[in-house]
Parts: sequence; structure tokens; C-alpha cells
Amino acid sequence: MAETIFKPGLEGVIAGETTVSAVQQSSLAYRGYNISDLAENATFEEVAHILLHGELPNTAQLTQFNRSLAEFHQLPDAVVDAIRKIPTDVPMMDVLRTGVSMAGHFDPVQGDGETELRRRATWLMTVTAGVVAARYRLINQKEPLAPKPGLSHAQQILYQCLGEEPDDTSARLLDLTLILYAEHEYNASTFATRIVASTMSDMVSGVVTGIGTLKGPLHGGANEAAMEMLSQFNTPEEAETWLRERFAKKEKVMGFGHRVYKNGDHRAHILEAELRKLAIQKNKQNWMDIYDAIKKPMVEEKKIFPNVDYPCGLTYYLLDLPIDMYTPLFVCSRVTGWCAHFIEQATNNRLIRPLSRYVGEENRTVLPIGDR
Ligand code: CMC
Repeated sequence: MAETIFKPGLEGVIAGETTVSAVQQSSLAYRGYNISDLAENATFEEVAHILLHGELPNTAQLTQFNRSLAEFHQLPDAVVDAIRKIPTDVPMMDVLRTGVSMAGHFDPVQGDGETELRRRATWLMTVTAGVVAARYRLINQKEPLAPKPGLSHAQQILYQCLGEEPDDTSARLLDLTLILYAEHEYNASTFATRIVASTMSDMVSGVVTGIGTLKGPLHGGANEAAMEMLSQFNTPEEAETWLRERFAKKEKVMGFGHRVYKNGDHRAHILEAELRKLAIQKNKQNWMDIYDAIKKPMVEEKKIFPNVDYPCGLTYYLLDLPIDMYTPLFVCSRVTGWCAHFIEQATNNRLIRPLSRYVGEENRTVLPIGDR
């Protein structure tokens, strides 16, 4: 038997090989394309194509990809009806998990070859966006909207929620966050999705598992938790006082720290630069002061840096998006990474089945019930 190793949380353990992305201390690349280059020069659709098809699309490939997205844009009525029946106080991540699972019964793609899996992944991009938008409308006592032809994926999400085409700043910033969130190698939700693929289960089950895993505040739920934290404060002084108390109690601050990046998260740098411009444009510098009042001591005293969820929470807030939509928007992006990994695992599979170390009691006897 091979030598066994034990690392709590699998920290530092290479659990598999991938060509989808590389996360390193000083760089992040999707299929070899650096994240800064993508953030500056690509759209989310191009990034999704890179992840699902392996290559930056040429004009014809991009047109074809956009066409397949448009083909799948309408959510089945039965899914909308199911969302309608979910109590209004249920968090949107839970609705999304149910909505995707329900949509799985209406999967328009037949077969499980690589081509079909890519098509199913494109369909799942539209399902996640459609469920988020439908829930947003229904919770606001409005009927879900049919998609509008010709919009980008980011514009479509905002249009189907708000009922009007978004301004350029909102569409561009949502697009940027979708690019930054799309993929991050063996993070918890992607690894969970790969485990599903490794049992030869189906892609919808993989995405539902991904959603359930991303929801936690140590993972994607941190963008909501970070904004909930910031929204408690009226001034930078209040924020700093709160932080000092948090330090004293040795409690975590959401939106900071990372299992891999110990000197800062590139995605956070990229997004924070855009957030600062947005705050000026919206005349909301007061929020940046509160943001910095938390960030400065975290970085300077604790040497713990913001991760992408910290600037993302405030970016979405300044775009007037409701807080419980932040992690669902993360899903609308990460579904591409999950599916790219699902396909990679499914097409070169080995069952993922690690070992555990037993540390419980041993040699116990089952006593008759009257003697226990
Ligand atoms: N606030 C305060 N202290 C922290 C934080 C934080 N956010 N993150 C790490 N630390 C401290 C931690 O208390 C520990 O200190 P000590 O050694 O004195 O006990 C040390 O740093 C190492 O922390 P760890 O939790 O063992 O490190 P990890 O590699 O398991 O943590 C993490 C990674 C993301 C779980 C953690 O940093 C965390 O809980 N952050 C807050 C939640 C968050 O923002 N999650 C989003 C992650 S990135 C985007 C995504 O995947 O969604």
C-alpha cells in the first residue's frame, strides 16, 4: 500500500492535476491566460469559453458561444412555478440550489459525451442566471422577465432582475466580478464538484453540490458576510473600534485571509482599484473610508490581506444589489469553473476516495439494552 499522509483540511496537499487554472502565490491564470490580462482585455463570455473549451474564442467561436447562451436563456415554467412556492424568507442561495436541481429535470441536452457536457455547462450558465433573476423579481412582487436578445451575460442578469438595461458602469463591473470569480482550481466547491464527477454522477448534481459548498461564509458566503459587517458602521472610527474588539476576542474578519495567498489576492487588487473609482463616481467615499478602516489594521498589524470577497461585497452594494444576491452572483460565474473541472474529471476519471484516521473509542461491547 502507498505511504499515507495526513494534513488537516488537506492543506498543502496536491489532490489532483488540472489544466483549467493555476493558483500560485504570485499569479493566477485560467488555462495559461493571466487574470490581469483577462480582467483588462476579455469579457466574461470569452473567459467562459476559455474555461469550457480551453481556448480564447475567435470571432466565429464567440458568436457561436453567444448563440448557444441565447438558445438556452428561457427558464422552464415549472422552475419558475417552483421558485414562486418557496417562502419569501428563504435565502437566495437555498433557492438557487433548489432551482438548479429542479431545472435538472428539464435538461435540454441529451448524452454525456464531452461535447454534450460542454453544452450542458452553457445551459447551466443560463439556468443559474435565470433562477437568480426570477427569484429577485418574485421577491419584489414582479413577474420574471423574458431575456432580451443581444445583451451580454452580465447585462442580461441585471436586465432580467431590474427590468431595464443597466448603465455601462454596472454592466462592466458585474462583468469584471464574473471574470474574477470564474475559476480558482481546487477550492472547496470545485473539489466537491469533482468528487461528484468522480463517482460518474451527473453535472447538475455536481453544480448543486458546488452551490451548497460555496454558500458557507469561509468560502463564497464571505462576500455577503463582509458587506454585512461593513454595513453596521456609520463612521471609520466605529469600524476600527469594532475591529479592535474582534482582535481581542481572536475572531475572524470576513473577506480577509486565504488558504493559498498569504501575501494578498490578485483578484482583490484588481477589483479594489475599480471599486475606488466607483466610490468616487457615486460620491460614496464614506464607504471607502470605512472599508480602509478595517483593511489597514488587518494588513499592517495582522498581515492578513483582503481576498476578492472583501472588495466584491462593497462593489455590489454600491451597484445597489441586495446583499443576499452576492453569493448567488458568484455562482453565476463559478458555474463555469465547476463545469470545466467536472468535464476534466469525468473525461479522465479516477474515483476520489481518500482515507480517514480513526481516533474514536475501540473494542466496545454491545450491552443488552437493559444494562446500558
Ligand atoms: N480574520 C482574522 N484572522 C484570520 C483570518 C481572518 N479573516 N484569516 C486567517 N486568520 C488567522 C487565523 O485566526 C489564524 O491565526 P492563528 O495562527 O493565530 O490561529 C491564521 O490567520 C491562519 O488562519 P487559518 O484559518 O488557519 O488559515 P486557513 O488557511 O485555514 O484560512 C480562510 C483560510 C479563508 C478559511 C480564512 O482566512 C478565513 O476564515 N477567512 C475569512 C472567510 C473568508 O473571507 N473566506 C473567503 C475565502 S477566499 C474566496 C472564496 O473562496 O470564496
